[in-house]
Amino acid sequence: MSAPAPTIRRATPEDAAGVAAVLNGAILGGSPTLLDTPFSVEEERAYIEGLPARGFILVAETPDAGIVGFQVVVPWSEFATTAHDHVATMGTYVDAARRRLGVGTALARRSFAAALDLGYDKIFTDLRADNLASLAYHLSLGFTVVGSARGQARVGDRDVDVLFIERFLRKG
Ligand SMILES: CC(C)(COP(=O)(O)OP(=O)(O)OC[C@H]1O[C@@H](n2cnc3c(N)ncnc32)[C@H](O)[C@@H]1OP(=O)(O)O)[C@@H](O)C(=O)NCCC(=O)NCCS
Repeated sequence: MSAPAPTIRRATPEDAAGVAAVLNGAILGGSPTLLDTPFSVEEERAYIEGLPARGFILVAETPDAGIVGFQVVVPWSEFATTAHDHVATMGTYVDAARRRLGVGTALARRSFAAALDLGYDKIFTDLRADNLASLAYHLSLGFTVVGSARGQARVGDRDVDVLFIERFLRKG
């Protein structure tokens, strides 16, 4: 029997432990993410509580496993300009046991709609060039690679290239 489809909903501070568990599972499990330092539940709670007005986290949860993935969408830049107000950035983490089951896609579908409602026109984000799962995931969502930076991520004693990707929200 296949696993039940996850419910997608907005995260609250009460979800800090579940979100941190998924995030830390990816970090400690060796996923080649730009986030490389585990977060405590308290740090995650503070992050959720401090999300900006145009920022949100969506969680995917199932009755049997609780939170199995999440996606954060926040303004790409809150620097002292309004020029980037239409640009959000995004990060996605799915529990290793639940990958390739459409959880990330379900989160993105909801995030894109919510981002449009918040007045964003596009998502711009970055990922390690050696994160092939993430690249495939984002390409499957309609992102395109718009640039790269050499040696942008320092991973232990080696420097890894980073890709910059974007997706316009109204394209479909
Ligand atoms: C990247 C990630 C979020 C994808 O989530 P997911 O729930 O597994 O994604 P989906 O099941 O919705 O996959 C959608 C499509 O993306 C592509 N894709 C996703 N993971 C892939 C992989 N490991 N290899 C090849 N293609 C992949 C496929 O086209 C897939 O469709 P298919 O399964 O029908 O072939 C997940 O692998 C993850 O959490 N990785 C660790 C954390 C991380 O690296 N996050 C990104 C930080 S930039």
